[in-house]
Amino acid sequence: MYNIKKITENLLWVGANDRRLAMFEGVYSVPDGVSYNAYLLLDEKTVLFDTVDKAVQERLLENLEEGLNGRTLDYLIMQHIEPDHSAAVINVLRQYPDVTLVLNEKSSAFVSQFFNIDESVKRLIVKEGDILTTGKHHLHFVNAPMVHWPEVMVTYDATSKILFSADGFGSFGALNGAIFADEVDFARDYLDEARRYYTNIVGKYGAQVQSLLKKASGLDIAMICPLHGFVWRKNLNEIINPYLKWSSYEPEENGVMIAYASVYGNTENAAEILASRLWEKGIKTVMFDVSVTPASDIISAAFKWSHLVFASPTYNAGIFVTMEALINDLVSHNIQNRTIAFIENGSWVATSGKQMREKFEKCKNINFIGEVSIKSSVKADKLEEINALAHEIEESWQKHA
Ligand code: FEO
Repeated sequence: MYNIKKITENLLWVGANDRRLAMFEGVYSVPDGVSYNAYLLLDEKTVLFDTVDKAVQERLLENLEEGLNGRTLDYLIMQHIEPDHSAAVINVLRQYPDVTLVLNEKSSAFVSQFFNIDESVKRLIVKEGDILTTGKHHLHFVNAPMVHWPEVMVTYDATSKILFSADGFGSFGALNGAIFADEVDFARDYLDEARRYYTNIVGKYGAQVQSLLKKASGLDIAMICPLHGFVWRKNLNEIINPYLKWSSYEPEENGVMIAYASVYGNTENAAEILASRLWEKGIKTVMFDVSVTPASDIISAAFKWSHLVFASPTYNAGIFVTMEALINDLVSHNIQNRTIAFIENGSWVATSGKQMREKFEKCKNINFIGEVSIKSSVKADKLEEINALAHEIEESWQKHA
């Protein structure tokens, strides 16, 4: 049965939720599910903004039929061709063969790469600055390359002052009845998942996100309709301000994230001793075992905190496997503007500290402070070194306060 949500008098949410998906994009856990938003504009012409993932496409097709209430679908605007938003295009075309696909040149190529679309299907190729008038509504197309793929465009409805923002301003988490962010306590209950979504999906592309934010700042926006998560109609700065911070790689909190790997608990012990010393100094600290906590949570935390400590045994003459994977991922996500310290462990030759540091040397504006080297387990002399590292972190932390 259909499940439509009213956004405005003539704009309907016709998307779908998925709470069964184990891993979004095959790599990100989504314990609270994910929403795939699609929007139906009922003007003199009817317009669908994007589709949904193939796993939930039946719901979209039902919602669409109900929303159209006997009318046909005139346009399908495809803002992003990643299949979580485009996979239902084939079935939408089966149901509404006369629909015109509205996409830019790159999207047109991508959609043909992913799907077998009959040559008879109508395509309207648009470019930055083009306007599609559907009756009362004037839809302006704005390119947003690499937010999150190169073909991405967003659409500004100048009549309703609505920005259809594609993946931008989205979040992990299915919609549990509410559709507007102001219906829930977003900061308390949803900001963490919004950060995890942003940092992992588009964290690498801060400069491109900044460029979109700059374009958006020139528009009079009353509402933001993203492709995942809540619609924003009030307090838009509650999502725009975190985006400004995340995309500029500025930390949100002055404190320490300790990520450690440990085979027999000795590297963990060193990390825990450091955490205790930091708390005694009044410094907020969070800790993760990188072999247990999904990397996406740790990447999100690394974007949040100002100081990062990585602790790893030396393993096969390198960095411990789960720590190496995490650091590679973090470097790929362009982490920058952080103060970083290391704890290494090695029973014969300890090299993990040096190797971890070398990886972060590729990142911009990293302030390296202190490194502690443990031989198998923490002994009295190493307690002194850990205390000294805590003191060094404190001095840096005070400068940020
Ligand atoms: Fe939600 Fe980049 O797709």
